[in-house]
Amino acid sequence: MASPSSFFGIGIVSILLVLTKAKATVPIFVLGDSLADNGNNNNLNVPLLDKSNFAHNGIDFPGRIATGRFSNGFNGVDYIARFLGFPIGPPPYSTTTELNQMLRGVNFASAGSGIQDYTGPGTINMTTQIKNFQKVAQLLQQALGQNRAEHIIATSMFIIVTANNDMFEYYFATGAANAASNQQFINNLVDRFIQHLMSLYNHGARNFYIAGTGHLGCVPFLTSRNPGGTCIDTLNQLSMKYNTIALARVSQLSSRLQGMRYSYSNIYRMTSDIIENPILFGITDVQNACCGNGKFNGEVQCTTNVTYCHNRNDHFYWDWFHPTQAVYKITSQMAFFDSLIYSTPISIQQLVMGI
Ligand SMILES: *[C@@H]1O[C@H](CO)[C@@H](O)[C@H](O)[C@H]1NC(C)=O
Ligand SMILES: *[C@@H]1O[C@H](CO)[C@@H](O)[C@H](O)[C@H]1NC(C)=O
Repeated sequence: MASPSSFFGIGIVSILLVLTKAKATVPIFVLGDSLADNGNNNNLNVPLLDKSNFAHNGIDFPGRIATGRFSNGFNGVDYIARFLGFPIGPPPYSTTTELNQMLRGVNFASAGSGIQDYTGPGTINMTTQIKNFQKVAQLLQQALGQNRAEHIIATSMFIIVTANNDMFEYYFATGAANAASNQQFINNLVDRFIQHLMSLYNHGARNFYIAGTGHLGCVPFLTSRNPGGTCIDTLNQLSMKYNTIALARVSQLSSRLQGMRYSYSNIYRMTSDIIENPILFGITDVQNACCGNGKFNGEVQCTTNVTYCHNRNDHFYWDWFHPTQAVYKITSQMAFFDSLIYSTPISIQQLVMGI
């Protein structure tokens, strides 16, 4: 084991305390898109729609801060972290410099990115997100020695929230009208996703929470532009197809890779249940974005220039693409606690208990 470097000498006591305190929970490393990003895009040169560090985003966040989360408050990663005993999700990689912070996890997600590196040009693509994780892993190794660093990574949870933007871009480019092309697209997408998982596994990751994709065709951005005002069925079909194939391939992979464990959540089923019986979940509006303008408030992005609703807890959609924190909370609860309907083969809670 490498001797602690001098900068680390002073910190060793506090780091050990952190490790002891955090024993009940596990570090969380996050990769993915705007459903998970909490500030990595803030200083990137990307289109406005890939940013959210301005009002009215964050209006219900502690201190009313627009952190770069695509939500009126917390996002799904925050809720999962809270169920694990953290006050909030791990900090964005873009601002994480302290080893102490890294030991509890880091968020690498970048709004607009996808599984394919060409999705969301200018954002932090998945390959780079994984490289950034490797950099953190290297720092842990330098500070703690290889064995300890490997142990920490093997006993961490990796949250992956992606594929949404790949499908949006494919739909915008092609209309997703050709069954054979759709099949080819999904196969390529899942192949690439499996490569990313293998890459993470090869760098020591063992426990994965994978969020599936939901009703992409129902976001206010699309329904407001659809003459009938209804959901885009072809895109919803594509999302379902992706989930079926991705889940089958992840399951296959896990039987091949020793020690790999996963929870894949059926976000599509969750959003179906909420959209079909919103009242059961305390939601009354599943169509209009809370913050925006035009039809369904879905024609423009949520910025300071548009209005927002006051009954945010009743709304499914916060803005033209993203849910409210109320819905992030409901879906995170389903993913975390429910092992029968919404998670395959185990819930996040079971995943973590087994670590
Ligand atoms: C992925 O990101 C890296 C770093 O920004 C970049 O060099 C690479 O070209 C990107 N890949 C694609 C296909 O855009
Ligand atoms: C708000 O509107 C002003 C004036 O039209 C414009 O200059 C500004 O860029 C807008 N801000 C955003 C965030 O869209």
